[in-house]
Amino acid sequence: MRGPLIYNAFVHLTPNHHSHGYWRTPEGRVQLGYKDLHPWVEEARLLEQARFDTLFLADVVGTYDLDYGDGTATIRNGSQFPGNDPSAIVSALGLVTEHLGLVVTSNIIQDHPFSFARKMSTLDHFTQGRVGWNIVTSYLSNGFRNFGYKDIVGHDERYEWAAEYTEVAFKLWESSWEDGAVLHDAESGAFFDPARIHRIDHTGARYRVEGPHIVEPSPQRTPVLFQAGNSAAGIAFAARNAEVSFLPSRTPEAARRDIAKLDAEVVAAGRASGSVKTLVQLSTVIGSTEQEARRKQQYLQDNISIEGLQGFYAGNTGIDLPSIDPETPLSDLVSRTRFTDHVRSNLRAAAEQYPDPSAVTWRGFLTDKALLPGRFAGTPEQIADEIERWATAGVDGFNVVPVTSLGWYQEFIEYVVPVLRKRKLMREEYEPGTLREKLFGAGPRLPHTHRARNQPLNAD
Ligand SMILES: Cc1cc2nc3c(=O)[nH]c(=O)nc-3n(C[C@H](O)[C@H](O)[C@H](O)COP(=O)(O)O)c2cc1C
Repeated sequence: MRGPLIYNAFVHLTPNHHSHGYWRTPEGRVQLGYKDLHPWVEEARLLEQARFDTLFLADVVGTYDLDYGDGTATIRNGSQFPGNDPSAIVSALGLVTEHLGLVVTSNIIQDHPFSFARKMSTLDHFTQGRVGWNIVTSYLSNGFRNFGYKDIVGHDERYEWAAEYTEVAFKLWESSWEDGAVLHDAESGAFFDPARIHRIDHTGARYRVEGPHIVEPSPQRTPVLFQAGNSAAGIAFAARNAEVSFLPSRTPEAARRDIAKLDAEVVAAGRASGSVKTLVQLSTVIGSTEQEARRKQQYLQDNISIEGLQGFYAGNTGIDLPSIDPETPLSDLVSRTRFTDHVRSNLRAAAEQYPDPSAVTWRGFLTDKALLPGRFAGTPEQIADEIERWATAGVDGFNVVPVTSLGWYQEFIEYVVPVLRKRKLMREEYEPGTLREKLFGAGPRLPHTHRARNQPLNAD
C-alpha cells in the first residue's frame, strides 16, 4: 500500500449490475429508480461525504447474448439490460460534488475517438478535472453487431484496436494544443494562438483524424485512465496505458503475485515502478454479529436469479451456459473459455480460489459466494480486518461492489466507514486539485513517461 487506500464505488445505470434478481426483495426495490437522476445525485453526495475517492460507472453496449442467441434470459431478468448512458450523468453529479472522481466506462466500439475525446475534455472542464475513463474493448457479440460489425472481433485484435483508439485520443488531448495556446488578449484580439494549435493528421489501420482537437485543454487533459485487462494482452495494455488497474485476484497472496507481474510489465514499458494503482473487488455483507451477516448472505443467495446469472455469465464467457449440465465441473468450463473471444480470465480467476476446481460444479459455483468476487460476510470489524489483510499484500485500494447500485452504500458508510477511519484505513480528507492529483499526489497531467505524452504529430 502506498498512500491512503482508494475506495471506488462500482455502479451501473441498469436494473441489475451483479446481484441479479435481488430487485424483487423489499430492500432491492430501490433499484427500480435506476433511470431517474435524483437517486444518483443523492448517492454521489453521500459517497463524497464519506470520502470515497471515485464513483465508477460501468457500461455495456449490447445485450448478454451468445454469438447468435437472443439474450432472452438477461432481457427477462433485466440483467445489465437496459443500460443508460453513463456519460450523460456526469455533469449533474459534478455539479453537486466537489471532490468525488467520476469514472466513465466507454467502449472503443461505441464512439469515434474524435467525438469521444471531445466529450471527455468537455466533462473534464465541467467537473474541474475530476473525470476518469474506464477503457473497455467489449466482450459482447451483440455490442459489435449494434455498431455495424458482423460479429465480435478477436480478443487480442480488440487490444490492437484499443492501442490505435487511445493513440488518437492521446494525440488530441496531449499534443494538439501546446501550453500557451490560450491568449485571451483583448488588445490584439487574439483569443488563441493558432501557431500553438496543431492538426494531428492521424492515419492508422482504423482511423483517419485531421484535428486539431476542438476543445481547449482541460485541467487534466487526459482523464485518469482505468482499465481491467486480465489476459496477457490485457495486462500488456494496462502496463502501457492504465493509471489504475482492477486486479482479478481472489486472495491477498494472488494479489501480491498479480501486482508484481503487472509492475514488471509497467517497468518494461518504460514507466516508473508503482505508477499503476491496483484495486481489488470488495463485496461485503454487513451484520452486527457474524450470525446476522451469515443470515443476510443466505437471504441474498436465496433471492438471486439463477437464470439471470446464467445468462450474464453466458454473455461474459461466450459459452452457452444455460444449456450446460449444472453438474459440469468448473474446471471444464474454464478450459472451454480458452476457445472463445469473450472474457477468458473471468471463470479462470473464479476457479483459482478453489483448491480443486474439478470438485466444484457449475451449480455449486453459481450459488457459492464466488458469484460475487470478493464476497465477504462479517461484522464491520471483521470487514476492516479483511481490508487490512489485502492492504498488507500491497493493493492500493478496493472496488467496493454493492448489492444494488442504488441505496446499498448507505449501510457500508454507516457501519464500516467509521471503523476504517478509526484504523486509518480510509482518508479523513480529500487532497486538493484534480482527480489525478488526489490519487497520485503529483500534478494534474500524466507523467512524461506515459506514452500519451510522447505521441508525435505528423503535421505542421
Ligand atoms: C472491476 C471491473 C469492471 C469492469 N467494467 C467493465 C465495463 O463496465 N464494461 C465492459 O465492457 N467491461 C468491463 N470489465 C471487463 C474488462 O474490460 C475486461 O474485458 C475483463 O477484465 C477481461 O480482461 P481481458 O479482456 O484482458 O481478458 C470490467 C472488469 C472489471 C474487473
